[in-house]
Amino acid sequence: MNESDWEKLLVDATDRVRNKVAAVGLEGRGTTVGVGASGDKTLLADKAAEDVLLEALGEGSGVRILSEEAGLKGKRGAQTLAVLDPIDGSSNFEKGVPFYCTSVALVEGESLGGIKIGVVRDLVSGDVFVGRQGRGATKNGRPIRTSRTTNLAEAVVGIDLSRSSAEGVVGLAPVVSGAKRQVHFGANALELCDLADGRIDAFVDLREKIRITDFAAAFLIATEAGAIFTDADGGEVRPAFDLEHRFAFVASANRALHKEILRLCKTSARRR
Ligand code: IPD
Ligand code: CA
Repeated sequence: MNESDWEKLLVDATDRVRNKVAAVGLEGRGTTVGVGASGDKTLLADKAAEDVLLEALGEGSGVRILSEEAGLKGKRGAQTLAVLDPIDGSSNFEKGVPFYCTSVALVEGESLGGIKIGVVRDLVSGDVFVGRQGRGATKNGRPIRTSRTTNLAEAVVGIDLSRSSAEGVVGLAPVVSGAKRQVHFGANALELCDLADGRIDAFVDLREKIRITDFAAAFLIATEAGAIFTDADGGEVRPAFDLEHRFAFVASANRALHKEILRLCKTSARRR
């Protein structure tokens, strides 16, 4: 299959995921069916979403699959790896908060630079974000770009502090107090698409809790839309493509804003 066939397959599959998850409905939203390969509990909706994606990728054949619930599956030794998070924002889904998505990336090799296609679908609105390596990012087929906000004082910054250490919370205080607004909606892949689309200006997650499954597709979408990603020291983000490695990152709409946020992250890190 060529890249545009893959893209169509993933866009269609994520639409079916949306229907499947909607069918779980209010009654089923809290139902748990076990524990996934990542060690987190698997909701009925996580499993339903994953089954749709595994079936679709089976049709494409010849790929290995890394998924949050099922772990590593598919053809051993295959060049292409599909990295899935069937539902990002499961806890929102469980509580009936309308902010969650499904996320799929196709990667050649195992590095961020090898991500060829990323698809994130908002499972509430149905909006679909697509990133294509070297060819930009779209929302519902229309090109998207990150914002032009270059000052922290004018920036809306997503900061994930969930289950952060107290030190981690204190360390980010300068960024929180320097920003125009601080937000976090509970589905990091979808929040990175908000960054790609200019709805927020930066996103910071220094907890060392995020995994590649939550990140791969949205990383490509945001990067192709103009976002800058580094670790807190300005170094390259280098996640392992497995379910064990957890990492930290700072993502911003442009270099000027990124520089300002990193300066505050570093200052706060020195104060710890
Ligand atoms: C989670 C969301 C959440 C973040 C967690 C992720 P999940 O994904 O992105 O915002 O705080 O670290 O694991 O568990 O719903 O797939
Ligand atoms: Ca998940």
